[in-house]
This record gives sequence, C-alpha cells and structure tokens, in this order.
Amino acid sequence: MLFWRSLRRFFSATTSSSERIVPADEVRSFVVRCMGAVGTKASHAESLAELLVTADERGHYSHGLNRLEMYVHDVECKVTAIDAEPVVANETPATAFVDGRNVLGPVAGTLCMEKAISKARDVGVSWVVCTASNHYGIAGWYAIKAANEGLIGMSFTNTSPLQVPTRSRQVALGTNPIAFAAPGVNGDHFVLDMATSTAAIGKVELHQRKEIPIPTGWGVDSKGNESRSPDAILHGGGLSPLGGTEASSGYKGYGLATMVEIFCGILAGSAYGPNIRRWMGTEEEANLGQSFAAINPTMFAPDFSERLADLLKILRTLQPAEGESEVLVAGDPERRHLSKIKDLGGIPYHVNMFPAMDKLADKLNVKRMVPKAT
Ligand SMILES: NC(=O)c1ccc[n+]([C@@H]2O[C@H](COP(=O)([O-])OP(=O)(O)OC[C@H]3O[C@@H](n4cnc5c(N)ncnc54)[C@H](O)[C@@H]3O)[C@@H](O)[C@H]2O)c1
Repeated sequence: MLFWRSLRRFFSATTSSSERIVPADEVRSFVVRCMGAVGTKASHAESLAELLVTADERGHYSHGLNRLEMYVHDVECKVTAIDAEPVVANETPATAFVDGRNVLGPVAGTLCMEKAISKARDVGVSWVVCTASNHYGIAGWYAIKAANEGLIGMSFTNTSPLQVPTRSRQVALGTNPIAFAAPGVNGDHFVLDMATSTAAIGKVELHQRKEIPIPTGWGVDSKGNESRSPDAILHGGGLSPLGGTEASSGYKGYGLATMVEIFCGILAGSAYGPNIRRWMGTEEEANLGQSFAAINPTMFAPDFSERLADLLKILRTLQPAEGESEVLVAGDPERRHLSKIKDLGGIPYHVNMFPAMDKLADKLNVKRMVPKAT
C-alpha cells in the first residue's frame, strides 16, 4: 500500500522533458520586475504577481504567467492606470459600489473582496460591485479569500466579447467566469471556478502555443461551425457557451454568461456585451464590471462547515464509473496541482513559455526568469 502510494506520489511529482520548473518566488519576482519596468507601483505589481502565481499553482495556466504580456502591454499603452487607487463611491452596511479607477484588476478586486468579507461578517450578506476595472485573472482568487475567512465567497467578471451565443456566428459575450467557494473543515474548501464558455480563451491560446488541436465543443469558426483549430477560433471564430452546441444544451452556458453580464456590466454601469473593447485591444480602457459577494454561514443553521464536509465526503466516496478511479468535487484538481507544485519545489512550465518570457524580459531590460537547475 505504502509502496503504491510512494510510486503514485513519485509520478505525480515528475515533470516531462517538455517542462522546466521555476520556484514560485522567482515567478513572483519576475512579474514584479516586468511590471515595475513599465512604471507600475510596487504594491500593484505585487498584487498582480500573487494572482498570477496562484493561478499557475492551481493549474490554471491560462490565467497565470501566460497573461503577463497582456498586463504589461495594457500599462505600456496607457489603457491601465498606474497612478491611481480604487475608491468606494457609495456604501451601505451590506453593499458597496467601487470605482476601480482603471487600475489593474487584482488591485480593485482585492479592495472589493475585502469590503465584501467585512460586511458579511457584520450583517450576514454583502454584495460589492466594481466599475471601471480591468482583467482580474482567476475569479476563484477572490472567492477563496472569503472561504479562508469562514465565509461563502462569490465573484464574477465580464470580459471582452469572445463567446458566440447559441444559434449565432458572432461573438457577443465574454467568457464571463463564475467563482463560488465554501469552507469545509481543516482548510478543505469547495471551489467552483469556471468560465461560462466551455473553455477559457487562455486554454485555446495554450493549445496554439503548443501547436495542438483543441478538443471538440470548445469553439466555432467564422461561420459558426464547430472547429478544433485554435487559429480558426482566435481569428474570426469564437468560443462556444458551456455545454457546446444547442443539441448538447449550450444555451444553459449562454444563459449563465448573460447572468454574469447582468451582475457585472449592467449592474456596474460599465461596458457590457459586444460594447466591451475587443479581446487584447488597447484602443480604449476596458471599463469592466465585476461583482463580489459573501455570505456568513454562522447567521444561519449551526455547523455549516461540518455538514459541507459530510457532503464532500459523500461525493468523493461515490462508486466511480467503470474505468475511473475516483470521484472529485470542484477544487480537487487544483488541490492536486498545489500539492504537485509543493513536491516539485516550483511551478512546471511548458518549454515554449520560456522564449516568450525571455523576449519580454529583454524588451523591458530586466533579468530573465530563472528556472531551477535540472
Ligand atoms: N478573468 C477572466 O476574464 C476569466 C475568464 C474566464 C475564465 N477565467 C478563469 O479561468 C480559469 C479556468 O476556467 P475553466 O472554466 O477553464 O476551468 P476548468 O474547466 O479547468 O474547471 C472548472 C471547475 O471545474 C472543477 N472540476 C474540474 N474537473 C472536475 C471533476 N472531474 N470533478 C469535479 N469538478 C471538477 C474545477 O475544480 C473548477 O472549479 C478559472 O480560474 C476562471 O476564473 C477568468
């Protein structure tokens, strides 16, 4: 038993020859170096670095270092502010309306989530809306902050139009993610953190970087036909809503993406739907809308976390389907990835990531990111 466990641990902690490991601190410091080189305040750069490292550590590579060039470019093009701080424009005991003042998304988002947490602690529930924000990375980062404080946390953002609504061939909504985190016991959380498209655009980009086709159901070409070519999706096509085609209930993902847009662009008075600037566009400010919410379970029935722990145990110990070894709950794949990172002593990156990061470092005249010696 011990032998098999050690063997499994060994294999889950090994990297392939197509990967190189970078210690998390070096990734953090590389992000700070790059953002500092374009004039970002140290505190803002550190907030972004923490977000990107967490994304990679959780296995959401689409939203980690893979996004650094985009944040750098936004600052270089002066469409993200480096000299402002977000402010609370309007507040009640349970709500806040925050003006993100066009700063980096994680800077505005952190202020909003901290507000949501302290309000939910006091009055039981909270809802904080942010206007004039920017790309805020993995939605889960914010929801988990609440779960770490014993609260249920939620977060939503709208994004540039990339998603093709059911029966259309035009992009009109973003990948509009939903994050929901709830605290179990001993640090075990349920963390649902998902795009409302079948896949996040970053995953298509990573397939393009690795030069491999995407799975079916992820996107359509410019005529609205399903396609497995990252190029067809990224140039003229778009992402399918969660669920894929109408026959496989993609309209449910389309409905969820619209719900997120109502919580974000519409509630915040920000840009919405196809009016949001194009993906990676730098001709205007993003003016994204975001929502952050928290619920204090102690205001309701006692022993929330214990009951949740029981539910998670029931789900995880269900009899696996033929050919499967175990049933997971949302947050488990990320937990696995976090423990792999711990065993490896750093974050494994595909080799194709390094030339791109070296090019960025050279352009900004900062020290390149240094992987662990092999
Ligand atoms: N800021 C933005 O603009 C933006 C837009 C879209 C997505 N995102 C982020 O991108 C990241 C990736 O999104 P995604 O939709 O590709 O995630 P995903 O499909 O990898 O995972 C979605 C959820 O499913 C859970 N899950 C995975 N396998 C499971 C299994 N076998 N059983 C039970 N649960 C399972 C995961 O724990 C996760 O909570 C997220 O962090 C999201 O917030 C950000």
